[in-house]
Amino acid sequence: MIKYIGVDDTDIDLFEGQYIVPEGISYNSYLILDEKIALMDTVDIRKYDEWEEKLTAGLEGRKVDYLVILHLEPDHAGSIGKIIEMFPDITLVGNARTFTMLPQFFEDAGKCNQLVVKEGDELNLGSHTLSFYTAPMVHWPEVMVAYEASEKVLFAADGFGKFGALSLTADEDWACEARRYYFNIVGKYGAQVQALLKKAAALDIEKIYPLHGPMLTENLGYYIGLYDTWSSYKPESEGVLVAYASIYGNTAKAAKELAKMLVDKGVEKVAVTDLARDDMAEAIEDAFRYDRMILCAASYDGGVFPCMHDFLHHLQIKGFKNRTVGLLENGSWAPVAAKVMRNMLEEMNDITIVEPVVTIKSTMKESDIPAMEELATVIANN
Ligand code: FEO
Repeated sequence: MIKYIGVDDTDIDLFEGQYIVPEGISYNSYLILDEKIALMDTVDIRKYDEWEEKLTAGLEGRKVDYLVILHLEPDHAGSIGKIIEMFPDITLVGNARTFTMLPQFFEDAGKCNQLVVKEGDELNLGSHTLSFYTAPMVHWPEVMVAYEASEKVLFAADGFGKFGALSLTADEDWACEARRYYFNIVGKYGAQVQALLKKAAALDIEKIYPLHGPMLTENLGYYIGLYDTWSSYKPESEGVLVAYASIYGNTAKAAKELAKMLVDKGVEKVAVTDLARDDMAEAIEDAFRYDRMILCAASYDGGVFPCMHDFLHHLQIKGFKNRTVGLLENGSWAPVAAKVMRNMLEEMNDITIVEPVVTIKSTMKESDIPAMEELATVIANN
């Protein structure tokens, strides 16, 4: 029997120190109860007390034989020290990299029993058998996933995870916060996710149990299909993200006018984001989601207004590629924003920057409309 003993975190201000999670996050953890008991990951130390209660209740007086460490990031491994104190005879299960990094977090962990597993190794618990598959960089180098053969469960580590506490998001569309999670946290590692999907394809999987978000028990092809699209950097939807960085609202006005032109020209989905105020992680998500983007930015200190620079920096480090981009810049005396944006985009792979690049001077005027119409037409027809 596999029992969920994860916990919700609804009072965290920033997940991983940077992502807003208005509906919190879940730290998932599972018990496999058999002749031997395996604990599948711990939880963030922030929620240790609540988790310990669920663990103790789940054990019904028995003890944990194995702690399987699929991922060492503190949102999952944070309570390993406590578990070692509670069960000094426990055997820690990880791969060679797990045990190289583990003492960096828990100096005493080296004194524990350790079972070092390699690709395909099995651990028999009675009627349940786990097999292990490495998944390096999904999302740290030591990550592995585990497959339990009798219940056909893939324990997928961060894979297929999403933001959102389970208690607050039971009826919510999975993809919305799974997509924001994926591109911001795992987005850089598409090739490694593709490699993991290939390994998973060889297994007979009926359920996916991630370390965040709901356990996936049906329609797995939908989730796997989205992961395949996302990790191969293909756009998921036709549409245009209009992202703007505006100081006094004049660049914003031009951006909104461009968005209106796109809608008038028949673009079905146009998303508009204010990079200074809206959630940066959602802007990143939308940039990856849609096939086209128009960037509108003010010039600033001989460069581009900082929130646009920040946005493009995020896209660079997340491996953004294979998209079509239009540019509009604003400048009162020396417009250079488009040049800076172009330079940053040209450092990414397979980015097509369309013409015309539009320059407005301080405010959008009637004389700017033809060039903006031309840019909107090129993007709409692309
Ligand atoms: Fe949920 Fe990479 O930790």
